[in-house]
Amino acid sequence: MRLALCPGSFDPPTLGHLDIVVRAAALFDEVVVAVATNHAKSPLLPAQRRADLLHEVLAATDVGERVRVVLLDGGLLARQAADLGAVAVVKGVRTASDVEHETPMALMNRRLTGVETVLLNADPAWAHVSSSLVKEVASLGGDVGALVPPPVARALAEALCSQAGPASR
Ligand code: PNS
Repeated sequence: MRLALCPGSFDPPTLGHLDIVVRAAALFDEVVVAVATNHAKSPLLPAQRRADLLHEVLAATDVGERVRVVLLDGGLLARQAADLGAVAVVKGVRTASDVEHETPMALMNRRLTGVETVLLNADPAWAHVSSSLVKEVASLGGDVGALVPPPVARALAEALCSQAGPASR
């Protein structure tokens, strides 16, 4: 049983994220999607909400039975990967700067516990899609319906609406 860990902030999960998880499930027997609290970012959606959304949308895919969603414990990713028995961390990369960003983390994680990192090139259809841009477009009134699954689009609209406060409703 070869298990892969797909970590990320997923704030919010996008169709690009789903593509990476589904492709990881084609390479590994089981995939654990780990929702991180990135202390460098201030999230729009609470971590549990992001995890629930991922669970909902992944359960509806062909690989849903081999994918589970957990919250990262806030400690070392490499340690949690080892504790789960993961043979690899899988991440998507869209650009050369993504590769530059991920490479030192991949080498550090391997040094820490021996866990390997597999970087999957983003499908060109999603190469321009990031959670940050999705939030920006949605917050400026743009349509993100083709970039995120429908439950995520609804959650995003609700979160942006409550963030804007009662005066905007
Ligand atoms: O979706 P994001 O925000 O790019 O996800 C980044 C995340 C949380 C996966 C990344 O920051 C990470 O791997 N954090 C783990 C913290 C850690 O173990 N750091 C030390 C060794 S690299």
